Amino acid sequence: MPELLTPKPISASRITLSQLMHLEHANLLGNVHGGWIMKLVDEAGALTCMRHSQRKVVTVTIDSMDFRQPIRIGDLVILNAEVSYTGRTSMEATVEVHAENPITGWQTHTNTAYLVYVALDDVGRPTLVPPLQAETEEDKQKMAQAQERQQRRLQQK
Ligand SMILES: CC(C)(COP(=O)(O)OP(=O)(O)OC[C@H]1O[C@@H](n2cnc3c(N)ncnc32)[C@H](O)[C@@H]1OP(=O)(O)O)[C@@H](O)C(=O)NCCC(=O)NCCS
Repeated sequence: MPELLTPKPISASRITLSQLMHLEHANLLGNVHGGWIMKLVDEAGALTCMRHSQRKVVTVTIDSMDFRQPIRIGDLVILNAEVSYTGRTSMEATVEVHAENPITGWQTHTNTAYLVYVALDDVGRPTLVPPLQAETEEDKQKMAQAQERQQRRLQQK
């Protein structure tokens, strides 16, 4: 389906996921368990890549994730995800995580994660994805940095 492979801008598949952190998300210290955040990061990354490719996707690799600030129970976690690189069948998603105190409105950037997904066809084989189109100078810079990260991953494989 050639129309599916027409270049698409980053803005066309950018998504935001928000979730309130409840007691069920707590770790033994009473903050949010990092595993919940990792699951949400993977979901946000997969969704932006599904939107871009209009295909099912699987996670191939997740770069290391550093948590710079604890997230508290009662915070709203906000995940902004966008596609930052496309190869033939692979895509990198950049996911920025913020935590907001909904009463004070105070927001902190807790971490940024990079994940790679592969698009699958109807029988589960890797399939081509549309190229990414830069709309701004900032897009071009993000895409160049993402390409370097992907080259490093493949060299380390
Ligand atoms: C993803 C999967 C379908 C790839 O199959 P494969 O036969 O290895 O396919 P390829 O070697 O052609 O790789 C496909 C793409 O992934 C990229 N890739 C593979 N391993 C990678 C890695 N470690 N880092 C970055 N990219 C990687 C390849 O460069 C290729 O990209 P391109 O098509 O854009 O050039 C297969 O490995 C798989 O099913 N993995 C399990 C996925 C899964 O279950 N995830 C959830 C885990 S809980």
